[in-house]
Amino acid sequence: MELPHIKHVPKHKTFTLLFLLFILANCGVSFPSEPQGKRQWNMTSNVEEVAGKSYDYIIVGGGTSGCPLAATLSHNFSVLLIERGGSPYGNPLVIDRRYYGFPLLQKDNHHMTVAQRFTSQDGVSNVRGRVLGGSSAINGGFYSRASDEFVDKVGWDKMLVKEAYEWVESKVVFPPYFLTPWQSVAEFSLLETGILPYNGYSLEHLKGTKISGSVFDGFGQRHTSADLLEAGNPQNLTVLVNATVKSVIFHHNGDKSETSAKGIKFIKSNGSLDETYEAYIKKPKNSTSRGDVILSAGALGSPQILLLSGIGPKEQLKSFNIPLVHEMKEVGQGMQDNPCIAILVDSKPENRLPDPPQIAGITEDFKIIIEASILPLSINESRVNIAAKIAMPFSKGYLELNNTDPNLNPSVKFNYLENENDMQECVKMTKLLNRIARSKSIAFFLGESGQNKLASTEIDLRKFCKKNVRTIYHYHGGCSVGSVVDKNYKVYGIKGLRVLDGSTFSESPGTNPMATLLMLGRYQGLKILQEREAYSC
Ligand SMILES: Cc1cc2nc3c(=O)[nH]c(=O)nc-3n(C[C@H](O)[C@H](O)[C@H](O)COP(=O)(O)OP(=O)(O)OC[C@H]3O[C@@H](n4cnc5c(N)ncnc54)[C@H](O)[C@@H]3O)c2cc1C
Ligand SMILES: *[C@@H]1O[C@H](CO)[C@@H](O)[C@H](O)[C@H]1NC(C)=O
Ligand SMILES: *[C@@H]1O[C@H](CO)[C@@H](O)[C@H](O)[C@H]1NC(C)=O
Ligand SMILES: *[C@@H]1O[C@H](CO)[C@@H](O)[C@H](O)[C@H]1NC(C)=O
Ligand SMILES: *[C@@H]1O[C@H](CO)[C@@H](O)[C@H](O)[C@H]1NC(C)=O
Ligand SMILES: *[C@@H]1O[C@H](CO)[C@@H](O)[C@H](O)[C@H]1NC(C)=O
Ligand SMILES: *[C@@H]1O[C@H](CO)[C@@H](O)[C@H](O)[C@H]1NC(C)=O
Ligand SMILES: *[C@@H]1O[C@H](CO)[C@@H](O)[C@H](O)[C@H]1NC(C)=O
Ligand SMILES: *[C@@H]1O[C@H](CO)[C@@H](O)[C@H](O)[C@H]1NC(C)=O
Repeated sequence: MELPHIKHVPKHKTFTLLFLLFILANCGVSFPSEPQGKRQWNMTSNVEEVAGKSYDYIIVGGGTSGCPLAATLSHNFSVLLIERGGSPYGNPLVIDRRYYGFPLLQKDNHHMTVAQRFTSQDGVSNVRGRVLGGSSAINGGFYSRASDEFVDKVGWDKMLVKEAYEWVESKVVFPPYFLTPWQSVAEFSLLETGILPYNGYSLEHLKGTKISGSVFDGFGQRHTSADLLEAGNPQNLTVLVNATVKSVIFHHNGDKSETSAKGIKFIKSNGSLDETYEAYIKKPKNSTSRGDVILSAGALGSPQILLLSGIGPKEQLKSFNIPLVHEMKEVGQGMQDNPCIAILVDSKPENRLPDPPQIAGITEDFKIIIEASILPLSINESRVNIAAKIAMPFSKGYLELNNTDPNLNPSVKFNYLENENDMQECVKMTKLLNRIARSKSIAFFLGESGQNKLASTEIDLRKFCKKNVRTIYHYHGGCSVGSVVDKNYKVYGIKGLRVLDGSTFSESPGTNPMATLLMLGRYQGLKILQEREAYSC
């Protein structure tokens, strides 16, 4: 999480940080560079190895959902996974827990940095992953399953969901080796404030206070979704990194009554926009059933690629001179971000180690979730904070193109707290945070260093919310199930094209989304295999 204080890091500090990392990386301090054991699958950034080739499945975006999906499909089919960022392996900013939060401080340098910043039209600064592993490579690593109620509501197969969660958890999820002092204090303060019962360590979404799983292991190493590629079939999995997809290419049948995805057009991430390459979906000789292009480029990336490919609102495409392939005004609609209020409990920056969230407080009505962390401000300064989010916000916004360059961000507006329910929830949430911040546990932990005074009257709290609302990075929507894709994540009106990632959520899973997005990649991969098996009989 980035706090309001971290508006920008003075240039020299960024340099100091990079310089220090350079020294660490070159002076025998060894960072783990591979997942446990030797990596079996091949990664390339040589576009020539892929250009002109055909695959059963092309997955766009090697992120949280894209990697488990690619691994699963590669067992029966040939798969191209294409990612705009580079490798997470050997990069201490991704792998090492001690650098949690540092990617968010780096000055955004086109394709070189693993976090791409964007500021929503609401004025809230935000970030998205740009590396193999996606946002799971830069996030807080907090892992918590969605509730059974959510799974029911979405209509997923419960048994398969369980199997998929377990598959993920056996590979990249870890219980805490120990609780850090700040996480223990946070736990005590939540209990002291009455967020009960105490559930101990649990991956389930339960009311009360719990310790959750993490993608950081006991050695302080992060396991991104890219580690799940290890479970794929290396012979049939091509991972192309440093390549950015510009658009999907289509085929129309004779009378133009049917449009299907034929492949993708891509560029080198550090190359020119005009130097494009193509890859195609294999056409099996004997079968009517064939593979798909699957967009897993995230809540900003997937709607952006659909729009750049000519699928979206007619007027918008026209204003960017993008030829219309299929009119669909729902593309980019329903963007949501869980409003968050974060308060700093220390009075000034200190030199503490960054500390990702491990404890969660979930209120009785499941409407508010509280987490605590320590975030770096610079190489030697960090701040202790508690953050609360509205679990199921009502306010919705939209995403639109701002240009036709796939490297740049589209423009997005979330309309934080526009809905009165959200505003009321925010007031409640702020009152609760106030109580937690004043708990004896926290006062004891901080000693003399004092605490922030917060607004107290109702009017003040509404103003406070408006002014201080920020992101906890759980934004989603843009290609919602039921409006852009069907229940099988197939884009309405186009054959051979699916979307699978956070953009497909029409509402938040309530808890932190990473666990469910990792699960969904595996789950839907298994579903596709089942579907194909049924066809081939
Ligand atoms: C700072 C931060 C902290 C967070 N903390 C937590 C947490 O502790 N717990 C939790 O559960 N959730 C957390 N989240 C949320 C969670 O990480 C995201 O919701 C989730 O990772 C999104 O998954 P995704 O598959 O939708 O997209 P991503 O994982 O972002 O994957 C999209 C991928 O597509 C690639 N891509 C995009 N466009 C293109 C293109 N044109 N061509 C090729 N590739 C492309 C991107 O580079 C990226 O790798 C956090 C998020 C952030 C940013
Ligand atoms: C790769 O996938 C194809 C299907 O496209 C399959 O026929 C082939 O046996 C697979 N190869 C390997 C080595 O698994
Ligand atoms: C991807 O690009 C980055 C930045 O240019 C580079 O450091 C990295 O080596 C590239 N990755 C691969 C696998 O070539
Ligand atoms: C990976 O690439 C190397 C070099 O091109 C090749 O020798 C090896 O067989 C490849 N491995 C797999 C699993 O495809
Ligand atoms: C782009 O990256 C590739 C691989 O990392 C490198 O070989 C090439 O020189 C880079 N090109 C430019 C223009 O920076
Ligand atoms: C293709 O289909 C024909 C007729 O249905 C069949 O005889 C042939 O064995 C099939 N070939 C393959 C490779 O499955
Ligand atoms: C961090 O370093 C700067 C510059 O060296 C120094 O001024 C500052 O006091 C340090 N902060 C802490 C918390 O140690
Ligand atoms: C759109 O792009 C322009 C320049 O390319 C930039 O100045 C502006 O901030 C962008 N707008 C949004 C909403 O992102
Ligand atoms: C996938 O492969 C497994 C064996 O590797 C086989 O049992 C299964 O039937 C295959 N599924 C499909 C859809 O081909």
